[in-house]
Amino acid sequence: MMNETRISPSILAADFANLSRAVSEIASEIDSLHVDVMDGHFVPNISLGPPVIASIAAATDLYLDCHLMITDPLRYLRAIKDSGGDGVTVHIESVPNPKPAMDEAASLGLDFGLAMSPHTPVDAIDPYLEHCSLVLVMSVEPGFGGQDFMDISLEKITTLRETIDSRALRTDIQVDGGVDLRTIGRARSAGANVFVAGTSVFGADDPLSAIRQLKSIVGVEST
Ligand code: DX5
Ligand code: ZN
Repeated sequence: MMNETRISPSILAADFANLSRAVSEIASEIDSLHVDVMDGHFVPNISLGPPVIASIAAATDLYLDCHLMITDPLRYLRAIKDSGGDGVTVHIESVPNPKPAMDEAASLGLDFGLAMSPHTPVDAIDPYLEHCSLVLVMSVEPGFGGQDFMDISLEKITTLRETIDSRALRTDIQVDGGVDLRTIGRARSAGANVFVAGTSVFGADDPLSAIRQLKSIVGVEST
């Protein structure tokens, strides 16, 4: 049985000088926020880290889904937890053996997810699926918001949905990058159930209405 369908807006596209306001404007329509942590090494961009996560956590009760695009995620899991993160997703390309990060996340009480970049095959994460609360399929190259959705991700989502269902797992399939009114339906049909949307929410004139439209396409009622 597929887990619930939800939108996790990425604050990367929000006005960092007014994060609290940006989040409170849409909080009534969501349960979680996607927080992109970038180190300028694993990806060419630098975004934010634990101090900013702590400020967001102090400003909202929303679940903080922290996407770690960093070279050495294991080293920062405790800091993410202490800052108020609820879940961490690490890239299989940065931790070819994710077991230590998985164990550390479990001991800290963080939900654990594995992410893969567009050209990484599903096989790379398959052995760990049983231990993941989510898998993140990148539909753009990690590092920047506002890129176009890559169709290459759809086939991977389909494969993952078949595998997860055939093993009767409850792993969420999250899709991240270029998710908007045109692409969300296709990602949904392929089998994703968690949709990260940055530009299409925070870049919209009316972010709340943008979330409601995205929800309606994937069959989730607005509050
Ligand atoms: C990209 C990030 C995404 C990004 C998505 O590396 O992981 O979460 O914020 O932004 P949009 O929705 O604009 O593609
Ligand atoms: Zn992300």
